[in-house]
Order: sequence, then structure tokens, then C-alpha cells
Amino acid sequence: MSAALTQEVKQQFIKTFKTDPILIFSPGRINIIGEHTDYNGGFVFPAAIDKGIAAAIQKSDTGSCTAVALDLDSIIEFELDKLKPSKEGSWENYVFGVVAEIQNRNQVIGDFNIIFKGNIPGGAGMSSSAALENSVAFGLNELFDLGLTKIEMILISQKAEHNYVGVKCGIMDQYASMFGIKDNALLLDCRTIESKAYKIDFKEHQLMLMNTNVKHSLSDSAYNDRRSACESIAALLKIETLRDATEKDLEKIIDKVTPENYQKGLYVIQEIDRTQKAAKAIEENDLETLGALIYASHNGLQNQYKVSCDELDFLITQAKKNKHVLGARMMGGGFGGCTINLIAKTEAKEFAEVASKAYYKKFNKECSVYFIELSEGTHLVEGK
Ligand code: GLA
Repeated sequence: MSAALTQEVKQQFIKTFKTDPILIFSPGRINIIGEHTDYNGGFVFPAAIDKGIAAAIQKSDTGSCTAVALDLDSIIEFELDKLKPSKEGSWENYVFGVVAEIQNRNQVIGDFNIIFKGNIPGGAGMSSSAALENSVAFGLNELFDLGLTKIEMILISQKAEHNYVGVKCGIMDQYASMFGIKDNALLLDCRTIESKAYKIDFKEHQLMLMNTNVKHSLSDSAYNDRRSACESIAALLKIETLRDATEKDLEKIIDKVTPENYQKGLYVIQEIDRTQKAAKAIEENDLETLGALIYASHNGLQNQYKVSCDELDFLITQAKKNKHVLGARMMGGGFGGCTINLIAKTEAKEFAEVASKAYYKKFNKECSVYFIELSEGTHLVEGK
């Protein structure tokens, strides 16, 4: 699937710029559990998937750069020494941001052209943005021999998101997209940025995504608000991040925070714990426990952290009605996007149909179902 995508992008590049490009594939990600814990120095449990961004990139000798988003049929020309963020929500900010952050490190790049296209549904909570950022960072590193490590590249991608896109994201998405391993999920410690790979084979069960096909507005500002609430609680506790807090510590400052923020802090502390427990459950092949942790994660995201929405909650209620779904929760930043379901293989299609029908009846809108494969991270498909 991604092979066809990269070839399409290559052909388009040759047609447009009359030269052979370097080809990169950069995947999106799922996250089994550990939501909104990354920017709190906690644990997350993501995996790269077989959907992502294919990018074709090559040096330009016209005195300027051109970027083409094939999906959107959108093209933009820019100059390296005149970069500034475009208007909010524009795709070019992902490209400009990465270029600017590379230049901020005093690393010299020359003019280039890039064409990219993706097969990750936008706004699905599967990190098409991190995939795009990583493809640009990886491509420029190859093209101009910058000698960047993968860790340096994902930190550049993250900064691009902070400073050009305006979302103060953690490191999960960029990490998972860059470091993904086929058939594995990565238990990532976001404090050290080191991960342990877990082979994922749920035998009679599998992971299935259901996309609500909604993305509520204001999700970016709500995200940044959550992050600053967590930081203010950590400051009250005189610790760097909530990773270092216990429920007991939080109780001690109960009078100093609003009840809403107290619940948010509590959610983070509990979710970090759940993520570690989930890894243990996977090690022990204990899918019942894993499923219960996943349901508990959704409960926290819905009621404590308050980043869910009616459409997501509805799909979780549908899942809970079906005994073949061991666990389900919203995935990613929230306010729309996908649910991730741990479901018996033989029942997955049936559940997807029943839940989709009910969803349509309730919201008069389709939801989409994806069966994903865990795949390798950002990589070169064809070199110089
Ligand atoms: C978005 C961010 C990530 C992470 C998740 C929530 O995907 O980009 O850094 O915080 O939300 O877990």
C-alpha cells in the first residue's frame, strides 16, 4: 500500500521537477495506552503503522524552494531566509517549522523541492502531522548530509509543532513515527526518551480503530490548556513533571488547586501507572487485564481529563455492550478522531458493522473502520 503511494509521489516529482528524488516513507502511529502522559514525563505505549506520508525530495537550483501537498492539490514557493509561520492551520507550517528549526541549530541547508502525499486520515488522532514533520527532517538530513541523529530529528519535529503549528505537544508521536519497529509497540519513557519494544501478537484478538470522523474545533487550545494545568500542578509540588508525583503528593495540595485541575493531575498520575501495568499485562499475555486498563483509560480521559466528546463516548458505550471487546478507548489528543478497540478477531467485522450502524443512526454521519499493521518507522525508500 505504501509502496504504491511512494511510487505515485516519485512519478509526480519527476513530472514536475524533471529529476529523480530521494524517497521517504514516514508512518503515523497508534497508541495502546498512555494518553496525555508524554508531556508529563510519563510512559506511553505507541506503535508506528502501515499508513503514513510518502515524500519525494531533491535539491532545487531555481533560487527558491517549492513544496507540494498532493492530497490537497496545494503548492507553495518559499525562500529559506524568509521563513515565518503561515496562518494557523496551514499545512505548510509543518514544512516551514522543520526547516526553521534545523536552521536555528545553525545547520546549513540549501534550496529544495518536496512533494508529499499521505494515506492517514487527517484529524484521526493517528499523527499525520508528526509523520509529515519527520519525513521533512529525515529528507533534509539525507539530502544535505546534516549528520542528525534520529533523536535530534524528532526534537526538531517537536519544536516545529511547538513554534510553527502552535501545539505544545509531547514527544510520543514523533518518537513512534521515527523509531517504529515492525510488529512491535514501544513502551516509551518520555523522561529519558528511551523505549522498550514489545512484540504484539494478541493471538485470537486484534486491535481495530474506529474513526468518528469528527475533529472538534478548539482542540489545539484545549490541548495547550491541559499541558499548562499539569505544569502548574507540578510547580506547586516543586517537581519537574507529574511523573514524579504520587496520588498522596497530590492530596497534600488539594486546597491549592481547583477541583477540575485536581482531577486532571490525578488522571495523569493514574494513567502513567496504568501504562506500566499494561506493559506487564502484555508480557504475561493477560488480555483481560489489558482490556480493563484500556477501558479505565477512557474513563479517565472522559471524566477526569475531559478530552473526549459525545461521538467517542458513544463508540465506547457500543464497545462495552459487546463482550468480545476486551477494551476500548479514545486515542490521541482527543475531541474527535479514533477509538482503539481490543477485540476478538472473529467478531471484529460484526462489531464494526453494528457499531457503525448505531453511530449513523445517532449522529447521522459515517464512522470508518481500520485494521492496521504495526510497521517500521521513518525510512529511506530510495536514496540519492
Ligand atoms: C497528541 C500529541 C502527543 C500526545 C497526545 C496525547 O497526539 O501530539 O504528544 O500528547 O496528543 O497523548
